[in-house]
Parts: sequence; structure tokens; C-alpha cells
Amino acid sequence: MWHYLTRGAGDDRTVHEAQDAWNRYRLRPRVLRDVTSVSTGMQLFGAWQTPIGIAPTAFHAVLHPDGEVATATGAVAAGAPMVLSSRSTRRIEDVAAAISGPWWFQVYLMRERSITAALIERAAAAGATAMVLTADTPYVGHRARTAALSRPLPLSDEQALTNVQQHLPEGAGDYWDLIDQRADLSLGDIGWVADIAELPVVVKGVLRGDEAAACVDAGADAVWVSNHGGRQLDRAISTAAALPEVVAAVAGSVPVIVDGGVRDGFDALVALALGASAVMLGRPVMWALAAEGAAGVTGLLDELTAELRHAMGLAGAARLADLDRSLVTGH
Ligand SMILES: Cc1cc2nc3c(=O)[nH]c(=O)nc-3n(C[C@H](O)[C@H](O)[C@H](O)COP(=O)(O)O)c2cc1C
Repeated sequence: MWHYLTRGAGDDRTVHEAQDAWNRYRLRPRVLRDVTSVSTGMQLFGAWQTPIGIAPTAFHAVLHPDGEVATATGAVAAGAPMVLSSRSTRRIEDVAAAISGPWWFQVYLMRERSITAALIERAAAAGATAMVLTADTPYVGHRARTAALSRPLPLSDEQALTNVQQHLPEGAGDYWDLIDQRADLSLGDIGWVADIAELPVVVKGVLRGDEAAACVDAGADAVWVSNHGGRQLDRAISTAAALPEVVAAVAGSVPVIVDGGVRDGFDALVALALGASAVMLGRPVMWALAAEGAAGVTGLLDELTAELRHAMGLAGAARLADLDRSLVTGH
């Protein structure tokens, strides 16, 4: 499980680069600005107190007995956006019940489309305010260490199938064949998800400007710069390097979200100044959840938000709207 959570694909080159890539940027602060009160509040398919949120990650029940319900409870207390994974180990409806406000649902297009459609409908009915279509996983990246084990994850069928069991056909033998990711996704699937959900669709896993523009042309309401935490294509470029190109390509037509190797408020500040509207955390949330449950998740989000607020003030920015490209140099 440790390898599953921490490692990436191949030789982990993309994983290892992720954090250092943010550290290659330097800040160019403004002075003599009124930063008596600094606000991190923002709107993005919902109103939030912080632009630092929770990227979708699978199987939280292995980290904490309350699983995604604890994660969601922690996010709500921090006023942070939370994206629930298609591979949630708690029922979509139970997680939604722990959230009073907005949240987003992550969509894997499974080989059996009707199962995916059912999950989208349930998430929309339970109050999701956006769908996040993960586009970088036509099949799961090769992860050397976990692949070597015959039963890679200490996860029961009951946990793995929590949300899909009720949609499996009678006597479905090898259910993984039905719920594994499809390899034939296309730009048309953005509209497919939007039509079922009747909600905005964010495309997650974009690393190029031209691809981002194509997603927008095909109807995406936001693009999410991600290399899946280095777990898909090893040697894919870092998100810190890809972000400026994507921001330039979409030219303000839709919001841009980013994740990958973000570990403190300074990384978040750089990402926001480069043009991201929200900055998401994958693994840190899992560690916080494992260590202290919902309180740990809130603590993590609060701490990074406080660090961001402090850094914004020292950079001369009282609002997120005051952050712009001129604050950052490097790469
Ligand atoms: C253990 C693990 C499970 C993940 N599961 C999913 C998932 O179910 N759906 C998805 O879109 N991304 C998934 N991701 C990718 C994250 O959403 C995110 O892109 C990545 O973790 C961000 O990088 P970071 O871990 O360095 O913060 C997963 C990542 C990890 C580490």
C-alpha cells in the first residue's frame, strides 16, 4: 500500500521532479500596498474560503476507517474545494451528506459506460456542482513495485466496489473488466459527461496549451493541469513547467486548475500567480487523513492557507485577484 500511495510510474522521474519544479520559481514582491487584511476567498463552481483544495484520490478507507466521509468533513471545516474520486470507498450519497455546500465529482470513464453514467447521475443528484473528467488514464500507468505483487492492494472487494456493486450486471464474473478505465476516450466525451450531469465539466490531466484549447473548444468549462501525481506517463513534464503554457493557451476563456507536488503555501502562491484559479493536493491529504482523520485534513488545509495568506501579504497582494504573472520569475 505504501508503494501504491507514494510511488509513480516507471522510474519515478516525474514524481521526483514535481516538488522541485515549483521551487525553481522566485517571487518579485510588490511593496507599499495595504495588506492589513488578506483574503483567500474565491468562487469556482461554488464559493470557497481558500483556493487550496483536495484532488481526487482513490480508496480512503485504507487510510482511515471513516474514509472519504472524514476527508469531506475536513474539507468543509476548511472551506476548501473537495473532489470525490470515482474510486471512493464510501458511498457517494454518504460523502455528500457530510458536505453542506458544494463539492465536485471525479469521473473515470469505465469500460461499461452505463456504470459511469449511473455514478455521474448519483453524484449530480447528491449535490455535486462540477464533474472532473480524468483524461490521462486510458489505462493505469506501470508502477513497478505494486505491479510486481500478485494482489497489489490490501483492499477488500467490498471496499473497492462500494459505489459500483449495485450497477454490476447479474452474475458479472470478472468485474474489473467492466469497471476498469476505457482506452478510447475522445473530446466528445466532455459533452457526454456534461449531458448526463447537466453540470460544468473540468478536464483533468492536461499538460499542453494546444490540448487545453482543444478541450475548451469541445466544451470544457475548466482545464486541470496534472500529470496524475507522476503515476501515469513517466517523464511527463512537471505541472509547474506546463502551467504557463496552458494558461496562455486558454487566455482567460476558462479557469485553470493545477496539482502535483504542491506542498506549501509558497508553491500555491507561485501557481496562483502563474494563472491557476485553484491548487489541489493529492498525497498530503492522504497523510493528514491517515494521521488525524477529518481534523488532520482541516489542519493541513488551514496551515497551507495561512502560509499562502502570509506570503500574499508579504508579496503585496491583498486578494487573489492581485496575483499576476509579474510576481513570478524563473523556469
Ligand atoms: C494514491 C493515489 C490515488 C489517486 N487516485 C486518483 C483517482 O482516483 N482519480 C484521479 O483523477 N486522480 C487520482 N490521483 C491523482 C491525484 O488526483 C493528483 O493528480 C495527484 O495526486 C497530485 O499530485 P500530488 O500527490 O503530488 O499532490 C491519485 C493519486 C494518488 C497518489
